Amino acid sequence: MKTGNLLIAFASILLFSCNSKKINEETYTEFQKRGNEISNKAQSVLLANVGQAMQTGGSLYAVEFCNLKASSIIDSLNSVNNCVISRVSEKNRNPENNLKTNIEKDLWKIFGTGNLTDTLVQQQNRLVFYKPIKTGLPACLKCHGQPDSDIEPATFDKIQHLYPADLATGYKLNDFRGLWKIEFLIE
Ligand code: HEC
Repeated sequence: MKTGNLLIAFASILLFSCNSKKINEETYTEFQKRGNEISNKAQSVLLANVGQAMQTGGSLYAVEFCNLKASSIIDSLNSVNNCVISRVSEKNRNPENNLKTNIEKDLWKIFGTGNLTDTLVQQQNRLVFYKPIKTGLPACLKCHGQPDSDIEPATFDKIQHLYPADLATGYKLNDFRGLWKIEFLIE
């Protein structure tokens, strides 16, 4: 067994034994599917917004567009699906996108091994779906890459001004950047 797999096995036991009720198979499959569909839609909305803003005015202009609040489509995805879409990261730009619970901190390590594609966990009255986000496009590095080479100086200044506690630089192409988090309220 690879160390990564061992870690997953160990952590799954921990997650299921202490923190969350076991989710039955049918529910798991249904919400995993919904979580995947919703996060794929959210991802394409975000990519379209950032891409369009980059074309309009380059990375300096586009800084405000890598934000879920910049899009009313995200709001309507939330209300149509009765869910809350967000993104979390250990190395976050907006401190509101930090890892919120010990479960999230454990999941972060497991996803970091690259061996897990998505997961669904129950936290109180919510089913929460998580899926990794990667810096999959060279454009991501214009705001999340190396400050001295990938990010234009004016853009870097603006980011530092808006996010004085920014941790989200220094990434390379296809790095593990964050997690989609889709929360579904259940009875
Ligand atoms: C034009 C600049 C810019 C580009 C390009 C950009 N981002 Fe961002 N990114 C930001 C800003 C600004 C935030 C903080 C948004 C907020 O306040 O919620 C952010 C936040 C994030 C977050 C949420 C976690 C956090 O750090 O707060 C993720 C995940 C993320 N970006 C991934 C990406 C990926 C993947 C790409 C490429 C597809 C990308 N970004 C491209 C500027 C950018």
